[in-house]
Amino acid sequence: MSRVVLVTGGAGFIGSNLVRELLVRGDRVRVLDNFSTGLRGNLLGIADDVEVVEGDLRSYERVHTAVRGVEVVFHQGALGSVPRSVQDPLTSTAVNVEGTLNVLLAARDEGVRRVVAASSSSVYGDGGTFPRTESQAPNPISPYAVAKLAAERFCVSFARVYGLETVALRYFNVFGPRQDPGSQYAAVVPLFVNAIAAGEPVTIHGDGEQSRDFTYVANVVDANLLAAAAAEAAGTVLNIAAGGSETVGTLAETIGRLLGKPVTREHTPPRPGDVLQSWADVTRAREVIGYEPRIGFEEGLRLTIQYLREGGSGR
Ligand SMILES: NC(=O)c1ccc[n+]([C@@H]2O[C@H](COP(=O)([O-])OP(=O)(O)OC[C@H]3O[C@@H](n4cnc5c(N)ncnc54)[C@H](O)[C@@H]3O)[C@@H](O)[C@H]2O)c1
Repeated sequence: MSRVVLVTGGAGFIGSNLVRELLVRGDRVRVLDNFSTGLRGNLLGIADDVEVVEGDLRSYERVHTAVRGVEVVFHQGALGSVPRSVQDPLTSTAVNVEGTLNVLLAARDEGVRRVVAASSSSVYGDGGTFPRTESQAPNPISPYAVAKLAAERFCVSFARVYGLETVALRYFNVFGPRQDPGSQYAAVVPLFVNAIAAGEPVTIHGDGEQSRDFTYVANVVDANLLAAAAAEAAGTVLNIAAGGSETVGTLAETIGRLLGKPVTREHTPPRPGDVLQSWADVTRAREVIGYEPRIGFEEGLRLTIQYLREGGSGR
């Protein structure tokens, strides 16, 4: 009999990519989502193969319903975006902290074997040395980063206090198919691809010298599957990234080159809460779960552009 797994936030960008891979591997997949930022279109073509529990992470009752009978929980549901959290820290924190706590409590109560939870590189904040290692002290700046750190610490706490197997994965700037270009808080890669393809200027906050470890989504999906399986992973926190560092300016130029289009830039002031630099050391993930980023920055961009140019969108 195949195992039952739950993907919270399974209608979102990363969640829906993970759901597809789990189905390919023969798992029975349940999704918990309230479709606040996730799109029903992201489940197009697989809706009949997935059991959807529509509900809010802030409701223990809904979360408990979703967790019943599940072997592994992949907790991807959250309100993403630093600017969103600056705008409305209360809602971001309620979903990202209380929501995670509900997932952990329900998993503990239902005897779930393992919870793999999405954390974020934003917990590192600014300052310190690069590339980031998990032994560095976190220094979160934005309300989003503070909430992700709290959620991550609850994962570690539940491993220590209740013996629940948890793994927190600190994703670094993920991009790829099914990332929503249409939301108010859309991420930089789909925004740049669509703008440059349309011959419009890209908006760069600050001078464009801020750097990110842009990570193609298939690498993150791999990391989740490995984290669910690796015996030694329980109770750990792991960086998940491509392990490189590119500036936002370079991102725009690379997309322009791949599209064969010129790039015009519009600069706006830096956004409060954004970090200047981000770059991961993925040694610990390599050692603990056997993670290896398969798809690099440029190949990932090529695949993403192909998806968007073919009209790919969950909308
Ligand atoms: N995309 C990135 O670069 C990145 C980087 C670091 C960490 N993360 C983390 O990865 C996870 C997935 O992010 P994503 O980029 O796929 O975002 P996303 O917005 O596409 O997906 C999040 C999903 O969670 C759902 N959700 C939000 N609030 C909910 C609630 N109250 N109840 C139930 N469902 C709710 C949304 O509807 C959506 O389907 C999040 O935990 C995010 O913090 C993402």
